[in-house]
Amino acid sequence: MDTIVITGGNRLHGEVRISGAKNAALPILASTILGGGECVITNVPRVVDVLTMGKLLSIFGAKVSHEGSRMIIKADVINSTEAPYDLLKTMRASVLALGPLVARWGKAKVSLPGGCAIGSRPVNLHLAGLAKLGADISVEHGYITATAKRLRGARIYCDIPTVTGTENLMMAASLAEGTTVLENAAKEPEVNDLADFLLKRGARIEGAGTDVITIEGVRELQGGDHEVIPDRIEAGTYLAAGAITGGDVTITHCRPVHLEAMLMKLREAGAEVQTEKDRIHIRTSDRLKGTDLRTLPYPGFPTDMQAQMVALMTVADGTSVVTETVFESRFMHVEELRRMGASIRVEGNRLVVTGRPSLMGAPVMASDLRASAGLILAGLAAEGVTEVQRVYHLDRGYERIEEKLQALGATIERRKSGEVVH
Ligand code: UD1
Repeated sequence: MDTIVITGGNRLHGEVRISGAKNAALPILASTILGGGECVITNVPRVVDVLTMGKLLSIFGAKVSHEGSRMIIKADVINSTEAPYDLLKTMRASVLALGPLVARWGKAKVSLPGGCAIGSRPVNLHLAGLAKLGADISVEHGYITATAKRLRGARIYCDIPTVTGTENLMMAASLAEGTTVLENAAKEPEVNDLADFLLKRGARIEGAGTDVITIEGVRELQGGDHEVIPDRIEAGTYLAAGAITGGDVTITHCRPVHLEAMLMKLREAGAEVQTEKDRIHIRTSDRLKGTDLRTLPYPGFPTDMQAQMVALMTVADGTSVVTETVFESRFMHVEELRRMGASIRVEGNRLVVTGRPSLMGAPVMASDLRASAGLILAGLAAEGVTEVQRVYHLDRGYERIEEKLQALGATIERRKSGEVVH
């Protein structure tokens, strides 16, 4: 497995272009099997999860081509409605195939999702919602099976606003007979982006981006073109990289409006942040200040930026309290940050971080996608060399991260597995 090797201490400066959002691209790609015709998706990040979704669509029988950041998918015919475990064990978003398959093809067999090691991540709300739409659901031998003649619209209240759950149900309801109302729906921009794509293809959806989404089912969807929104988490990660290194970084091709909670916290931590239409500039001249934060569903502070902010807080002046309310044990980065000299106390779902003047480079192990990003940031700020092992997690969600950081002046390289560095 590859290792990322960082020699810390460089102040980052320059511009970095933000890629399309992985978490928008995945449901958009899954939704292509809801209809025939050609779907042309642009600004697709070339990350492992997207490649996995492409393979999955091919297994179903869709024609998939990938040229740079553009994907073309045609799903006029489907040969299989089964998503195998081997392909999907690393990608939780595989469950996004369930709604489209059962809605258009009447059946789906999808392996229970794997993915990041961030606590138990059930899919009960996806399944309960599909059952309300009239699907017969069973879970056996690690697979979910759903069957239905034609789904029927229903009123569905989600106990927790779930992002992929909302997306799954919105896709399924688009082809159901009658009206579906999703209450307590997730409001993340990625849900909205999926709705925009479905609307272009003939779906009838109102209220995406609010907590009540109404979907009027239609008989069929056509193909369509769509440009995926920029990745707000990648954007936040590069801003945090600028801040933690005392740098001067501009991110381009982003949507500042999607990053408001993050920008507020970066400002509270002492960074100077300026926004333009699709660019954000961050500069940090003094030491960072500790700041408290609580992760919440959008528009609150995203859990996917928690590890990166914790890295920042480990070298900020004072004490910060970070409360994780979205995922129960998303603190896998803590032990690794401690190996680098960080002072962090875990109290239930809270971290109490006491800032230190600096961190020390060390070999560390990435445990999930965003934890890996936190460790990379810590490595950029640390004295000496940090080796982040198991970077496949990082490759699931960040496009060319080492190249982008090198262009900002970081000393960072990828060591391929088996390669020995003297
Ligand atoms: C999505 C994102 C992920 C992000 C997360 C929260 C994708 C591909 N992934 O994941 O990067 O960290 O949103 O912003 O978009 N829950 C249940 N039952 C369910 C579904 C969820 O109890 O059936 C709970 C989860 O355990 C969690 C909370 O709901 O506590 C929110 O999770 P959810 O929004 O579903 O996360 P994902 O959609 O998996």
